[in-house]
Amino acid sequence: MNKRFYLTTAIDYVNGAPHLGHAYEKVLADVIARVHRSMGVEVFFLTGLDEHGQKVQQAAQEQGKTPQAYCDELAVQWLAFVQKLGLSNDDFVRTTDQRHKDVVQAILTKLHAEEQFYKKPYVGFYSVREETFLTEKDRNPDGTWDAKWGQVNELVEENWYFKLGQHQQWLIEYIEANPGFIQPDYRRNEVLGFLRSQNLEDLCITRPAARLSWGIPLPFDPAFVTYVWFDALVNYFSVPASLGDPAAAGVLGFRSRVSVPEAEASGNSQLATRNSQLSLWPADVHLIGKDILKFHAVYWPIMLKALGAPLPKTLLVHGWWQRDGAKLSKSTGNVVDPIAVIDEWGLDAFRYYLVRELGIGPDGNWTDAGFKSRYNAELANGLGNLLNRSISMLNKYRGGVVPTPSDELKAEAVIALKAIEEKLAGFDLQGALVEIWKEVNRANQYIEQTRPFSLAKDPAQAARLDAVLYNLVEICRILAVLLWPFIPATSEKIFAQLNVTGSPGDWKLAAWGGLQCGHKIGAPIPLFPRKDLVPK
Ligand code: MSP
Repeated sequence: MNKRFYLTTAIDYVNGAPHLGHAYEKVLADVIARVHRSMGVEVFFLTGLDEHGQKVQQAAQEQGKTPQAYCDELAVQWLAFVQKLGLSNDDFVRTTDQRHKDVVQAILTKLHAEEQFYKKPYVGFYSVREETFLTEKDRNPDGTWDAKWGQVNELVEENWYFKLGQHQQWLIEYIEANPGFIQPDYRRNEVLGFLRSQNLEDLCITRPAARLSWGIPLPFDPAFVTYVWFDALVNYFSVPASLGDPAAAGVLGFRSRVSVPEAEASGNSQLATRNSQLSLWPADVHLIGKDILKFHAVYWPIMLKALGAPLPKTLLVHGWWQRDGAKLSKSTGNVVDPIAVIDEWGLDAFRYYLVRELGIGPDGNWTDAGFKSRYNAELANGLGNLLNRSISMLNKYRGGVVPTPSDELKAEAVIALKAIEEKLAGFDLQGALVEIWKEVNRANQYIEQTRPFSLAKDPAQAARLDAVLYNLVEICRILAVLLWPFIPATSEKIFAQLNVTGSPGDWKLAAWGGLQCGHKIGAPIPLFPRKDLVPK
């Protein structure tokens, strides 16, 4: 049984509409998943929803619904969003799934039995909005609470705590010894700085059910529900454990929920195959935003270590989008509606802009003018025009029939492929697109240099024209393969116009010389219809 490349995204809070930040992270993950699949790696790509907690309970109450009914309605929208983004995820987890709740409870039971938890009273302040306890340090200098905390209540309550102090030293050593664990480097340094400079406080892992009932009950003390972050982080593990992945299920003494013979007997052969073949844990990449790094780089590794499970290999941390230099905010109306952009410009244009504009790490800035300019310059005039001219000329001058192969641009294509692969190996998706566009621009420049339209006028240049036309359509075919992880529908359109069968999602096809002499291509159809250049 081969271990799959296991890739996850943060699970989004179900309350609130999907926005640009959510779309960005999910598209990045999808590109990474497709890169691996294209290269022949078996992938398991997980995304999903974070559904418990006080905010959901409150919002449901305000709408006169049960929290479950409220979540079920919103989950439909989120699933539609996954479709809209063209994600190739293998599973979609909701923290209200029974399979997830079972695993959270099993983990709590195990850690409780191993005396990792203790109960104590807490006296202090609590932010409802952030679902977190506040200390005096969190107050403004004038003694007030910052607006970001929302309503702050004074509380006296008992809760269960997870002993973190004993884990601090090994975690520091682990992060030091494993430079690839937190990427990019400056995020790793942030975590190390934090861990080296202060003692870890024990983590409160419960909320009293009397105050917050919308959570997973504590198996050993039903007066409490599980703190929403302890619950949410487990999603990465609960899916493999519930699917019978030995590395995850074994730690909990679980066997798969549907054992293989049972699945076979029930006629569910797909599930039987799936269960018998799944090996996922440890995760290869947890893709997350910078704001939730501490949960993933401190609490999550400690939870896993306490359980006796291996740690994920990489936390890949992306930055945050703004629009026009200001924070995205529903209340000020400074938002980008991903669905509206996709409806107007097409999914691939949206995916392209997100990945091309912002590499994984720094913060980014959406501007409508920037989006339109990339659309027109890079997609319509760059890639679209190259394909259109190449296909039109082959049709016009050679009846659409591919001439004898020529290797004129082969050496450059080989060098470009290597550069692209290097970028992809380092999760530099933006850098890979930059390299791919060097290829696009080179091919457009090749048209200007070789002037096939002039060659066509001179019968003595027939062999030269053959060579030029071959190089052009072959480059277009290779570009379709390289672009498939990023803009899969466009790649498929390129294959269709070249009348090439099969999927462009196979990296091996990026080798030079795929188009055979005598192959008949199809008709040109614009990939990215040109829009006016004036920003709205
Ligand atoms: N539910 C938690 C995550 C639990 S993971 C075990 C959560 N949800 S969220 O909906 O607030 O955010 C989901 C992801 O979107 C996070 O990785 C977050 O960083 C990312 N983004 C939210 N706003 C963003 C931007 N403006 N820009 C880029 N990503 C942003 O946190």
